[in-house]
Amino acid sequence: MISVSNLELRAGARLLMDGVSFRIDKGDKIGLVGRNGAGKTTLTRVLAGQGTPAAGEVVSNGDIGYLPQDPRTGDLEQLARDRILSARDLDTATRKLRQAEAEMASDDPAVRDKAMGRYNRIESEFLSSGGYAAEAEAGAIASNLALPERILEQPLKTLSGGQRRRVELARILFSGADTMLLDEPTNHLDADSIVWLREFLKQHTGGLIVISHDVELMESTVNKVFYLDANRSVIDIYNMNWKRYQQQRETDERARRRERANAEKKAGVLMDQANKMRAKATKAVAAQNMAKRADRMLAGLEEVRATDRVAALRFPEPAPCGKVPMTADDLSKSYGSLEIFTDVDLAVDRGSRVVILGLNGAGKTTLLRMLAGVEQPDTGEVKAGHGLKIGYYAQEHETLDTGRTVLENMRTSAPDMNDTEVRNILGSFLFSGDDVDKPAGVLSGGEKTRLALATVVASSANVLLLDEPTNNLDPASRDEILGALRRYTGAVVLVSHDEGAVEALNPERVVLLPDGVEDLWGDEYQELVSLA
Ligand SMILES: Nc1ncnc2c1ncn2[C@@H]1O[C@H](COP(=O)(O)OP(=O)(O)OP(=O)(O)O)[C@@H](O)[C@H]1O
Ligand SMILES: [Mg+2]
Repeated sequence: MISVSNLELRAGARLLMDGVSFRIDKGDKIGLVGRNGAGKTTLTRVLAGQGTPAAGEVVSNGDIGYLPQDPRTGDLEQLARDRILSARDLDTATRKLRQAEAEMASDDPAVRDKAMGRYNRIESEFLSSGGYAAEAEAGAIASNLALPERILEQPLKTLSGGQRRRVELARILFSGADTMLLDEPTNHLDADSIVWLREFLKQHTGGLIVISHDVELMESTVNKVFYLDANRSVIDIYNMNWKRYQQQRETDERARRRERANAEKKAGVLMDQANKMRAKATKAVAAQNMAKRADRMLAGLEEVRATDRVAALRFPEPAPCGKVPMTADDLSKSYGSLEIFTDVDLAVDRGSRVVILGLNGAGKTTLLRMLAGVEQPDTGEVKAGHGLKIGYYAQEHETLDTGRTVLENMRTSAPDMNDTEVRNILGSFLFSGDDVDKPAGVLSGGEKTRLALATVVASSANVLLLDEPTNNLDPASRDEILGALRRYTGAVVLVSHDEGAVEALNPERVVLLPDGVEDLWGDEYQELVSLA
């Protein structure tokens, strides 16, 4: 149970919400929604006890399992399996068991006997705490989140950002926490895992807050919706499921628009009257009062502020280049004994559109990183054609320098642009005023996505390499990005499991990983997108 009273949250000087009170009880499954940067992550961090509110109180009972939006760095030497098991304090026991097992294989009988004794002791403790069953349960959860045995044996530092996040999610689901706070849990999941997660969350009997842009997840799990309205700094609470919430929201918005129009009309009439009366000395006071009343009427209405605007995006006019700006021959990659893919060939023609499909772990991000030149292939090479200019959008925003400000990040990617040009582009991506001086590290998930895309835009690239560019975006911003993608005339290599994104790209060709088979795009591939 979590109980919140009179909560006030700020980000720097900006007020995010004020006077917010609610409770999360057993069985409450809350969908938390609101525009990018509205303060959803900030709120869940505070609920998880990882941030302090400007004012108000948060009281919680029972365990809380919190999945942050960004993969956290913890002890990266820890094995993935131990990280998951640590949620129920089982990691130490299993580690000791494995140690004892290893020593039991020793040639020295003394060591062997000692280890045997120790093993029995630890095992009976382990058994009495439901150890093996729990371990199996953890294994099942992990495997449903596309984390096979071999991954679980690896230290966290060898895992990709997406895998690490799945480990964190597995840990929370395994923990049996009374209340779960999940910030965009589907971001790094494949379709099968998402379906499984939906079912899992449906069965969950505790409390839940989930932030997600996955509509189906919201539809199937949520029985309440909290809408964080950044304009009014409040949370509107809807005690209903997702479908009814959407209808209700629409009705509310219509009512508000009507209210606004009415008030504007009335205020206009009052103003006119006041202006007419002002001319006469005897009526000057009455005129003034009337004008004041009109002002008050308008002030009570909600303004549509900057946060409701959406970036009017355009990707760059591509710089001129040769007929085939990029080719890749014979690319292959293995990690240790694990072969990710072999012999992938790809020629990116000027203005062509390619989509890369493959299940989780098939190497899509790896391939894109190679094309971008940030990772070396084991064999083969990526060749730049005449005039090649790459714009790389990385899934984890690792192209951003989190210690430097929004403006500095832009200057680095567009050294030839002057200050006005840089600020203009930032403005069209909704960074204005003080926003440009924020360190990139404090930006919200959606804001980071916007900045990373802005840096791509500034580069006048002719080959865009886009890795899941719609993750984290609110629906309005997503539509803008897709519009820009549709209009862009340069070449695009896209990795995405967002069907809408692939539709917007209107690809000519598809590369299937891990086999590296290339084919002309056809409708039959569209179905694969959400699976990939
Ligand atoms: N230290 C800080 N200084 C200034 N602004 C900050 C700071 N920390 C966070 N912010 C701002 O607070 C706002 C709320 O961020 P938050 O991460 O809570 O948004 P969100 O609703 O989770 O958005 P998204 O949907 O993009 O994940 C953002 O505009 C962010 O840039
Ligand atoms: Mg967030």
